Amino acid sequence: MPAIAKKKPTIALQRTRHPLPETQRVEVVRALAPLQTGSIELYLQLKNAHWNVRGNAFGSLHRIFDETSQELSEIVDNLAERMAIVGGEPLATIQKLTAVPQLADAPTGMRAQEEFIKLVVDRLSYYIQLVRDSIDVFERYNDRVTADACVRACSALEKKLWMIESHSVSKA
Ligand SMILES: [Fe+2]
Repeated sequence: MPAIAKKKPTIALQRTRHPLPETQRVEVVRALAPLQTGSIELYLQLKNAHWNVRGNAFGSLHRIFDETSQELSEIVDNLAERMAIVGGEPLATIQKLTAVPQLADAPTGMRAQEEFIKLVVDRLSYYIQLVRDSIDVFERYNDRVTADACVRACSALEKKLWMIESHSVSKA
């Protein structure tokens, strides 16, 4: 039996005078959706770590987890605005965001700092890879501006990853 090709869901764009051809903007919107979902999931997981971390490095981790969540809040906003700028509809409801989760869920409640460091580093690293991979996609569809927003997001998040990892002496 021949394999049935999976059809990509169609995306309807708003009318805009944006200079990129519609066929390319559709692909930009398609690639932006998982990044937007992932950034919101990660924002919340960083807040979870900020609120619930316990240990002798509490002050420093409490602060760096919050700074990382603030960074993500800016990234969420930038990605959603790129989506709107090219004619797409930013994901703005819990139902739409949870339809296709990008990250492994995180346990809630108070936890030791080593556990939270590992948890955050795993997910942050995964998300950075997701953003890095999509840079090529945006360039392929001629959207250097969105690619540039992703480069800036990676630059900020990779620095946070380094700072959070540096709280742990254990080898990766
Ligand atoms: Fe706070």
